[in-house]
Amino acid sequence: MDTPSIREFVDLPEVWDRMGEIEDRLLEVSSSEDAFLTEVAQHLITAGGKRFRPLLAMLAAQLGDPSGSRPVDAAVAVELIHIGSLYHDDVIDEAETRRSATSANANWDNTVAILAGDFLMARASELAAAELGQESVRLLAATYAALVEGQTFELQLDFDLNHGSEAYEKVIAGKTASLIRTSSRLGALAAGCTPDVVDAVSEWAWEVGIVFQIA
Ligand code: FPP
Ligand code: MG
Repeated sequence: MDTPSIREFVDLPEVWDRMGEIEDRLLEVSSSEDAFLTEVAQHLITAGGKRFRPLLAMLAAQLGDPSGSRPVDAAVAVELIHIGSLYHDDVIDEAETRRSATSANANWDNTVAILAGDFLMARASELAAAELGQESVRLLAATYAALVEGQTFELQLDFDLNHGSEAYEKVIAGKTASLIRTSSRLGALAAGCTPDVVDAVSEWAWEVGIVFQIA
């Protein structure tokens, strides 16, 4: 059996039609007055990527009123956090490549890569504060903390051959499922969904995040 592409699987043209707006906004929000910082910060943005987190934000927004710029800004905020964390992750892993491109740490150096990651995180917070409101800013801040906790817990398991599946689940919950859940939650909040809908789509996305990381 052929696996359907994600576009076939998510058969919602109204969602796919808006993905270009996300690309434009990503470039706008990640720009700096410093041309070098813009170049480094956009290195991984322009290298491609699945845009899975923005897709989840836009999908969740369909459960409310998806019109206007707020769902796009929610999608952009979560993608900036994701990409920012990849700059840092590639420094930690001493990675040479990312998304078929040279990683920023390999192309420039660790200092430059860390600063670019910091910049994207800062821009995500700025965007959320300006466009999405206090609940979304708080949610994003709690999600950065969960990413760092997941990554830090993973470090402590290095070379520990005795840990079980519970520890593994704690790592993937923190470093992957937390941001995937936040992607849907932020999209639903941006679209003015009712609290019940926001909670239901968050719970669904949490399960998706766990399965995504295992897969
Ligand atoms: C990829 O993991 C990395 C992540 C899913 C998150 C990394 C989180 C941090 C570096 C914490 C710092 C975050 C902030 C918000 C400052 P992987 O190495 O297992 O996968 P890969 O093959 O894609 O590198
Ligand atoms: Mg890595």
